[in-house]
Amino acid sequence: MDSAKAEGFAESLVDLINKGALAVMISIGHQTGLFDRMAELKKFTSQSLADYSGLNERYVREWLKAMAAGKIIEWSSEPAEFYFPSEHAAFLTRKHGSDNMALYTQYIQVLASVEQSILSCFYQGGGVPYSAYERFHEVMAEDSRQTILAPLLDQILPLIPDLTQKLATGIEVMDIGCGRGKSMIKLAENFPNSRFMGIDLCAEPLESAREEVRRKNLTNIQFKQADLTAFRPAGKFELITAFDAVHDQARPDLVLRTVYESLNDEGHFLMQDIDGSEHLEKNLEHPFSPLLYTISTMHCMSVSLAQGGLGLGTLWGVEMANRMLREAGFTQIRENRLPHDPMNCYFIVRK
Ligand SMILES: C[S@@+](CC[C@H](N)C(=O)[O-])C[C@H]1O[C@@H](n2cnc3c(N)ncnc32)[C@H](O)[C@@H]1O
Repeated sequence: MDSAKAEGFAESLVDLINKGALAVMISIGHQTGLFDRMAELKKFTSQSLADYSGLNERYVREWLKAMAAGKIIEWSSEPAEFYFPSEHAAFLTRKHGSDNMALYTQYIQVLASVEQSILSCFYQGGGVPYSAYERFHEVMAEDSRQTILAPLLDQILPLIPDLTQKLATGIEVMDIGCGRGKSMIKLAENFPNSRFMGIDLCAEPLESAREEVRRKNLTNIQFKQADLTAFRPAGKFELITAFDAVHDQARPDLVLRTVYESLNDEGHFLMQDIDGSEHLEKNLEHPFSPLLYTISTMHCMSVSLAQGGLGLGTLWGVEMANRMLREAGFTQIRENRLPHDPMNCYFIVRK
């Protein structure tokens, strides 16, 4: 045994356990708004931060110590103060738009909420239904707000020539696996002459979507609860979108066939899906591959298997995506990468 190699590996495991724990603390800092408050104060004590945030000082103090030990924040003993560097605040606060990485740490707890059910699947097979995950749709919607909503009008729509003009004139649009419907609602607000429909399997995110539609008094949008494996929409669409919602379907192959049949001959399918390979060896240098294979095991694969589906997993790969799109009948497939979103590929697809 190479003892230096063994020691190095043990050290990396200590680092891993520390960072896993810190991810939980970062998620708490995000949900309580502590990062945002710290960025406003810059320098603070546990008492001044707790008072400013309206939180319990004992918990804030212990959390600050975890943050200082993890080098997320800096501190001094004389005077006893903590300091949140603006270089760190840029990636942990809401104010800084699309760079807030704190929100993604919430996925760790979403996955942890089904750990025991996933454990059972290792013995018995099968899957875990969406309803078992705590806060999945809430965190997903927050993720989408940052990854899709912010760049939707300026960066995503222009991937399809003339689309903005067509939306302004008035077209039919469908979003599959819409979750809380954030992208359709934003488009419905911006393009009142077009009509939008969002489809999702789960009741909970659709309730939230309908509530937002009511609040905003939108009349050009509707949401339907349906299993896309068997759902056949009435009429044809000029645009169909899927944001991170094909690989974890029960039957992506059947869904893509439905998309093909539901598009106008001149229509476009915009599919945002994970940018990775179906081959492990090609993902080894992928900066997010351990996270993506974990999300796959704990969520994307298992929610599909829970529906009796194919369970392709998060890293079904752009190779399989291309094959399935062609098998569904599509002949024109263009892959796009956008700088704000290193996790995804934006497929622009036509008949
Ligand atoms: C990863 S989430 C993406 C949600 C949304 N597009 C977003 O970006 O926030 C995938 C969505 O697909 C939905 N879904 C999964 N299987 C489905 C099925 N068989 N029929 C309809 N929707 C399904 C889930 O309920 C979930 O809301």
